Amino acid sequence: MLDARWWQRGIVYQIYPRSFMDSNGDGIGDLSGIRSRLPYLAWLGVDAIWISPIYTSPMADFGYDVSDYRGIDPRFGTLDEFDALVRDAHATGLKVILDFVPNHTSDQHPWFVESRASRESAKRGWYIWRDPAPGGGPPTNWLSEFGGPAWEWDAATGQYYYHAYLKEQPDLDWRNPEVRDAMLSVMRFWLDRGVDGFRVDTIHHLIKDSELRDNPPNPQWKPGMPPHRKLLRLYTTDRPEVHEAVAAMRRVLDDYDDRVLIGEAYLPFDRLMAYYGQDLSGMHLPFNFHLIGAPWDARAIAEIVREYEAALPQGAWPNWVLGNHDKPRIRSRVGAAQARVAAMLLLTLRGTPTLYYGDEIGMCDVPIAPGEVQDPFEKNVPGLGVGRDPERTPMQWGGGAGAGFTTGRPWLPLAPDADRTNVEALRGDPGSILSLYRALIALRRAQPALAVGAYAPLAAGEGVLAYAREHGGRRLLVLLNLSSRPRRLALAAGASGARVLLSTGLDRAGERLDEAVELRPDEGLIAEAPGAPG
Ligand code: NOJ
Repeated sequence: MLDARWWQRGIVYQIYPRSFMDSNGDGIGDLSGIRSRLPYLAWLGVDAIWISPIYTSPMADFGYDVSDYRGIDPRFGTLDEFDALVRDAHATGLKVILDFVPNHTSDQHPWFVESRASRESAKRGWYIWRDPAPGGGPPTNWLSEFGGPAWEWDAATGQYYYHAYLKEQPDLDWRNPEVRDAMLSVMRFWLDRGVDGFRVDTIHHLIKDSELRDNPPNPQWKPGMPPHRKLLRLYTTDRPEVHEAVAAMRRVLDDYDDRVLIGEAYLPFDRLMAYYGQDLSGMHLPFNFHLIGAPWDARAIAEIVREYEAALPQGAWPNWVLGNHDKPRIRSRVGAAQARVAAMLLLTLRGTPTLYYGDEIGMCDVPIAPGEVQDPFEKNVPGLGVGRDPERTPMQWGGGAGAGFTTGRPWLPLAPDADRTNVEALRGDPGSILSLYRALIALRRAQPALAVGAYAPLAAGEGVLAYAREHGGRRLLVLLNLSSRPRRLALAAGASGARVLLSTGLDRAGERLDEAVELRPDEGLIAEAPGAPG
């Protein structure tokens, strides 16, 4: 495994561009801002940045509604600034991954404008237009992910169009070869400009049932759950033909050197594995989101890891995610103390970790007052807690009015604790969560066992998650106390005499562990088993 690819060994850092760094004082982050913060990312030690969409967009869904796939939205900058960012990132040793949004365009995209103009339009078949149901009304019962029906009536041409998300995000018809060709050529455009890969948005939505069958009701739905969950998305997601489309994307990437294809799909493990493709001809990394919804419990997490490891096809590379721009932040889910344990988990499991910006400084979800809501999901479905603004607030670089993010008025409020929880303050504190992230990243780089080693679960008592990572004769033990009580863990005979490399408290390195380890509340340890070289 020493010949592992950069995306296997490396750590991906997700940047939500509106919120990372604003260089021009308009309160919205931009490409030049990201560029100015590359030295920070190099200092942190990550290997790649994935930037959420930066293309020309009316911003109905903050960039996930693209009106020009080859343009940069002026709010984010220009193509020249993009090229400069890629150049500098590469010079710094960082790869650049773009978001690719193939499922839908903006309703302002010239393709849709043309498609909508008449039933005879040459682009009519690029989107999913259907007549009303025989008795009138939408063609099927399909629901939008963001509330309401997924079909929008177009009075001028007397048909409905399908949108899995907002009505401003009409779905492309990926069964149409012209659509495929057009979208694959968009990928080439960015690959030719030097990007190192794509995170592909909502990949499981790409193909819908050709027979347009109604989705069945979800027996688990209860009031209080988002309305789209009322139906099981049997005929609108994860259709078998999607894998041909994924393989076509992969073939494009394979024409280039060493690029990566990452897919976003919230699916159970058995369905997710199909996205690696026949003989691994699909996604390099179908995102594994299972830690995001997991109960924070040692046994439950051990079971998730076991199931995932067991389900992986031969040769498929694993990956792990704790959070992203659509989900509550890890620190808000598990608390400040366990956020440190979570960091150790993410950076020691077998597989590529994706780190969400700001988690490394322990950013929290920020409460958003009703008048400040930006997210269209929250606006459409208010009061159920589905809003995504809380996890999208500006990065906290320093103290003061704009937290070092902007000199203007930030597009979302800053966290109330930004004066304390920021890069400047935590960087100089050797015990901070930022110092812990940096130490974990450095250790992962220094220890092939952590980056590419084999994984083996270890027996552990109540509240503790324990496993070994092994490579080239070196065996590292990872012991995570997921509880807030002290725990004592007996070490197997061969592990007695292990030496601590890192603790979440950053204060036990070098300590020798004998037959038993005392783990403090909320403490994680990485130790090297004896008998290892060096
Ligand atoms: C998934 C993205 O992560 C989310 O932010 C977006 O709203 C939907 N896909 C629609 O593109």
